[in-house]
Amino acid sequence: MADKLIIFDTTLRDGEQSPGASMTRDEKLRIARQLERLKVDVIEAGFAASSNGDFEAVKAIAQAIKDSTVCSLARANDKDIARAAEALKGGASTRIHLFLATSALHMEKKLRMTPDQVFEQAKLAVRFARNLTGDVEFSPEDGYRSDPDFLCRVLEAVIAEGATTINIPDTVGYAIPELYGNFILDLRTRIPNADKAIWSVHCHNDLGMAVANSLAGVKIGGARQIECTINGLGERAGNCALEEVVMAVRTRRDHFGLEVGIDATQIVPASRLVAQTTGFVVQPNKAVVGANAFAHASGIHQDGVLKARDTYEIMRAEDVGWAANKIVLGKLSGRNAFKQRLHDLGIELASETEVNAAFTKFKELADRKSEIFDEDITALVMDESVTTEQEHYRLLSLSQHSETGELPHARVAFAAGTTELHAESDGNGPVDASLKAIESKLGTGAELLLYSVNAITSGSTESQGEVTVRLQLAGRVVNGVGADPDIVVASAKAYLSALNKLHSTTERVAAQG
Ligand code: KIV
Ligand code: ZN
Repeated sequence: MADKLIIFDTTLRDGEQSPGASMTRDEKLRIARQLERLKVDVIEAGFAASSNGDFEAVKAIAQAIKDSTVCSLARANDKDIARAAEALKGGASTRIHLFLATSALHMEKKLRMTPDQVFEQAKLAVRFARNLTGDVEFSPEDGYRSDPDFLCRVLEAVIAEGATTINIPDTVGYAIPELYGNFILDLRTRIPNADKAIWSVHCHNDLGMAVANSLAGVKIGGARQIECTINGLGERAGNCALEEVVMAVRTRRDHFGLEVGIDATQIVPASRLVAQTTGFVVQPNKAVVGANAFAHASGIHQDGVLKARDTYEIMRAEDVGWAANKIVLGKLSGRNAFKQRLHDLGIELASETEVNAAFTKFKELADRKSEIFDEDITALVMDESVTTEQEHYRLLSLSQHSETGELPHARVAFAAGTTELHAESDGNGPVDASLKAIESKLGTGAELLLYSVNAITSGSTESQGEVTVRLQLAGRVVNGVGADPDIVVASAKAYLSALNKLHSTTERVAAQG
């Protein structure tokens, strides 16, 4: 029997730390359900003590998820650990993940603690956590840049206190595959009780080597858990990409000889859901989940693939969840067919009221767009008016006029709570005019950090436009996403969706702070 490689997904925690990728509780819950369908072993649902919003998200996920272990991050202090335990209470299988920096740089400059103080705090924290749960992971933050002798001392002590997983973060993405693999091997060889814990890798992608480093940590170092995120989401250059690392281990089973429990056919749906939710689009040439990952453009390649697939393909598109765009529903589809499709896509709406709201939206869309694809349905249920989550601002109507040589003009009607507002403005283009009109009424002063438009389904101008708007106000960065066949309408929806998120305030402390 091949060894099992544990896949620990941290999209909802480390991934979410990427500025602008913050998600609401319901968005996180939806992604957690998809991660469960993907059969990840551990879902790091958040950092319960960082904000009330994160606490609620961890709690909701711990209650809903049955087949994956649900984990919360916590700093190595009693208050954080107790908060994590409280959020996870009642979950089917749960873990507390503690972190404390061990590099000389972090201890001295950030924590202002001596190595002895860090050693004591790490031990006490693991002891405290082990009294609350049997599954405790310990991460020496900036572990890869820590003094190996000191690390051995700390890790031996925390394993003796009952830590069940030891994770070695390359927090700043500084590692090189061979060196990182040997670093872990060295720790495992020198620490007498190393075999009492599962060893884990956690790599950031600053030098573009997060996947390679993680695989070296497994192959050379003997780690049996990989921490990763969907689409490699994460701050700066991101984290190790789940889809790449999983498919590498699976495709090169001859080399790794390890089992992964992932249902790979759920990879592309997971990638799409995360991209749609966060507005972090996937580059077309991204391995496994990029739109071109399986597209053969050159004549020689096409000819080869037609004759024998494996001439140029090492994986099959369908094995990772790429299905040819299917027209799944149309104007005449009924409520039951719609509900069944939601179910097939793993979308569970909270109530019949939400199903009805989604069905009404679907009918409106089907009146304007003859072919409805799975991606349209996913985008549709992400509309806040379906889940009624945080919907303070709502677009009621929009009209705009643009003509060559004239300044575009837009009129927008929208609801702010129970008040109906009407606004109009000129702008450089119809989108600019629409957003300016909204802003002229609200005067939020939010700074626009990003505006992007993507076609939800490729290959047709009939596709819905999906717009992402990223706003910053008073230190908070939020994403709003809106979809509509009319991209000006999609833009106004995205803008209001971002304003809705700014409207619901939750304080958050930095995980690495
Ligand atoms: O990168 C890092 O060091 C982390 C820890 C909190 C595990 O994300
Ligand atoms: Zn990290």
